[in-house]
Amino acid sequence: MENKNLQQRDGFSSKMGIIAAAAGSAIGLGNIWKFPYITGKYGGAAFILVYLLCIALIGLPVMLQEFTIGRRAQANAISSFKKLKPNTPWFLTGWLGFITAFVILSYYGVVAGWTLSYVFSAITNSFAGQNPEALGGMFGALVSSPWKPVLFQVIFMALTAGVILGGVKNGIEKYSKILMPLLLLIIIILDIRAVTLQGAGEGIAFLFQPDFGKLTAAGIMSALGHAFFSLSLGMGTMITYGSYIGKKENLGVTALQVTIADTAIALLAGLAIFPAVFAFGIEPGSGPGLVFITLPNVFNQMPGGYIFAIMFFVLLAVAALTSSISILEVVVAYFVEDKGWDRKKATIIATVAITALGAFESLTNGTINFTLPLLKAGAVTWFGFFDWMIELSDLLLPIGGFFISIFVGWIMSKKDVDDEITNSGELAHSWVGIFDFLTKWVAPILILITFINLIVGFTN
Ligand code: TRP
Repeated sequence: MENKNLQQRDGFSSKMGIIAAAAGSAIGLGNIWKFPYITGKYGGAAFILVYLLCIALIGLPVMLQEFTIGRRAQANAISSFKKLKPNTPWFLTGWLGFITAFVILSYYGVVAGWTLSYVFSAITNSFAGQNPEALGGMFGALVSSPWKPVLFQVIFMALTAGVILGGVKNGIEKYSKILMPLLLLIIIILDIRAVTLQGAGEGIAFLFQPDFGKLTAAGIMSALGHAFFSLSLGMGTMITYGSYIGKKENLGVTALQVTIADTAIALLAGLAIFPAVFAFGIEPGSGPGLVFITLPNVFNQMPGGYIFAIMFFVLLAVAALTSSISILEVVVAYFVEDKGWDRKKATIIATVAITALGAFESLTNGTINFTLPLLKAGAVTWFGFFDWMIELSDLLLPIGGFFISIFVGWIMSKKDVDDEITNSGELAHSWVGIFDFLTKWVAPILILITFINLIVGFTN
């Protein structure tokens, strides 16, 4: 994604560029940090099955819907609704995306900061010779430290702002085409090591043998929320990116490719983590620290683990950066195009505000005592602001997705939608009818049912 593109709307230069930018946004901490830990929290294979259904029946169509809105309107998320449906409240969908972006990026920066901190731990060889318990303690010490996670969060957010300000065609975008395949390669190597560990079988069963008794209403809500999170949907990122896609490109195929790549990386990350979780006797429901506690054990058990550990955390930080820029851009675009601020002012103010909120969230992990009620797995528990914001984003994204589906299914002109999907009749897709049905009925109804199920689950 190049900064100039965002202002001049001259579009992505190549097919590879589109896929790299959209996949770069999608593939991030969601795949490698969040997916494994919520899978562990909500019980494994049954949760994964629901997640995959959400991806296929809701995520994939919503991605195509967002591309369609953006390419038709040739505008960012907020202006797109104004252009396609002027003088109606539909622009509020864009505004909801703004709030959601703020919420997500605040905690995203914190977790990316942990990743940066682990780069240094890897370089200083701090994992070596530590048992699983000590590695757990190391993570706990990091997140509850009054300064360390905040320092690294600030560094990461400064990098994000720098990219948004600086223009990146020859930087981030070029490198991510090399670095992302490298990340994939390392994950596959980790997979091989993890599944051959003694005691790995239990972890593989956890991933692939569904036990539907473990599925809760909160788990289903989280699977849906995460489908949106992982594919970068529900708040306008893919609307903005859609507006940069050339008129000749096939939107449906692009959406499918990004979805497959994102899902494959999440599943491969799960396969690297759960066999190791069980082999080392780590609790699968350990929460946000799961990846940070589990993988160092795996690095300790493999030849060249020192180098692999450094490479892994560096690449994870890069993956996080190509995602965080796509989140910050939604907030910046709002200030620039709706409030008329200049780009630099917008970027600095947005970054400072989001970083401050994130730092507060981070400190509620140990330093500041601040708890709020959280609806968790059918019971109300008390949690720090950090966990609270994660759960909130899992609610906000599907709400955004609901309105996007309704907009494309019922509000936008049918001809506009068909023109975008078929490139004005040039492409003959046999699946347009299916897309139409998913958009009008399946996606919005499933989202509604999930919310009703959650509410019923908690009032019982
Ligand atoms: N998809 C990214 C990840 O998995 C996070 C992300 C980037 C995102 N842009 C987004 C999430 C837009 C929701 C909406 O890490």
